[in-house]
Amino acid sequence: MSYINKFPTDFLWGAASSANQFEGGWNEGGKGTCTADIITNQKDGFLRLTTPQIDTDKYYYPSHEASDFYHNYKEDIKLFSEMGLNCFRMSIAWSRIFPNGDDEVANEEGLKFYDDVFDELKKYNIEPIVTISHYEAPLNLAIKYGGWRNRTLISLYIRYCDTIFRRYKDKVKFWLTFNEINCLTVSFGAITAGAMLLSDEENTEEVRFQALHHQFVASALAVKLGHEINSNFKIGCMIAYMCGYPSTCNPLDILKAQQHDQMKNMLCGDVQVRGYYPGFAKRYFKENNINIVVEEDDAEILRNGVVDFYSFSYYMSNCVGADASKDKASGNLIVGLKNPYLKASEWGWQIDPEGLRWVLNNVYDRYQIPIMIVENGLGADDIVDENNQVNDDYRIDYLRRHIEQMKEAINDGVELIGYTPWSCMDLISLSGGEMKKRYGFIYVDKDNDGNGTLKRIKKKSFHWYRKVIDSNGENLD
Ligand code: BG6
Repeated sequence: MSYINKFPTDFLWGAASSANQFEGGWNEGGKGTCTADIITNQKDGFLRLTTPQIDTDKYYYPSHEASDFYHNYKEDIKLFSEMGLNCFRMSIAWSRIFPNGDDEVANEEGLKFYDDVFDELKKYNIEPIVTISHYEAPLNLAIKYGGWRNRTLISLYIRYCDTIFRRYKDKVKFWLTFNEINCLTVSFGAITAGAMLLSDEENTEEVRFQALHHQFVASALAVKLGHEINSNFKIGCMIAYMCGYPSTCNPLDILKAQQHDQMKNMLCGDVQVRGYYPGFAKRYFKENNINIVVEEDDAEILRNGVVDFYSFSYYMSNCVGADASKDKASGNLIVGLKNPYLKASEWGWQIDPEGLRWVLNNVYDRYQIPIMIVENGLGADDIVDENNQVNDDYRIDYLRRHIEQMKEAINDGVELIGYTPWSCMDLISLSGGEMKKRYGFIYVDKDNDGNGTLKRIKKKSFHWYRKVIDSNGENLD
């Protein structure tokens, strides 16, 4: 039996972004204020400002200008083409299309902006992969309706989907309904994923699971609607894979890690791919006194709106164990336990390429549908040297090792169809509102306080990735 040992010839090689971290132009072209626009960076430590008043004299709001793709999209897309990308993951800012979320009429200027972006991508044969909701929603929906805990958001989201599906039906084929939908299972997700301005006391699991249920229903309705509008649409879910190994071979740790995988990762995949809530979730709700309101038709809606493919983000792994007093390791969305076999990034995220192979196999074994990795990358404090170059060998090493494991997973039989590392170029980091935590193949001259010329500089990884794509993943040197 011979190995395939190759990426499929139509493999999607791309890079990723999100509107609120990349686009800027926060109040231009008729765009309304979104939930991300009220989040400021605090110099030392975690961002967060969840009062709806914007005070630009006092605070700096990273999303307002971000990397300014809004004004530079032509030059930026040209660079993407030079890098060899055949796809580009981006998101549409809901508040650019419906400034208040509940407007009767869509904002034509906003729709036109994305028309222009998609046309520009087409010029270079770059396939857009569009996230419909990536950690933002019109601020009005948070203030007036309480965000996703309110069922009304389902119909408002569907109106938004209907508008963009019809408008871009011949320009976009790949859609993701919600970025990292499982982020709602952690408290950080209330404002980012749930558009909910909650105080600490209100930020309970019950509220977040209710909001998650509404997003499940909205996602399923969107999948059904999308297929009615264009049967060629491929609509996927997007899950932040919070990989957690058992911290020891103690059966209690094994069980703990399994329960973590079920509730943090599999719950969302099960509902969106299989179309129903798994038994372990029902038990968890019961034992934790979580009572969510589910309407009579919801089960049928979920069954009829299963996704075409599974996508996920993967940056790192943690350990999970029954003894929580062990050393902690930080990470994407959750804090877990340290793994003595892994090294961590400057931000403490444990680097684990083999974990990616494990996740790919785990997910494919369970769902047997095509998979896309839509985020993976290394956040680092890149330095521009005296020759105006950024020698990010550490990023090349990180990506190379992950791509090697993707190849292994393909040999294991996993149907992997695309890879869009985070991020196409430097953009605002989600967890700290920083610019210093850079992920891009292209450097953007801007600092944590918003100073800089926004000039773009191709990093060493830019040229390396070009060779990887040109050789369809064969040349990783
Ligand atoms: C993912 C998000 O969780 O991780 C992105 O979808 C985010 O929006 C990325 O930027 C990296 O996280 P961070 O906090 O380092 O920017």
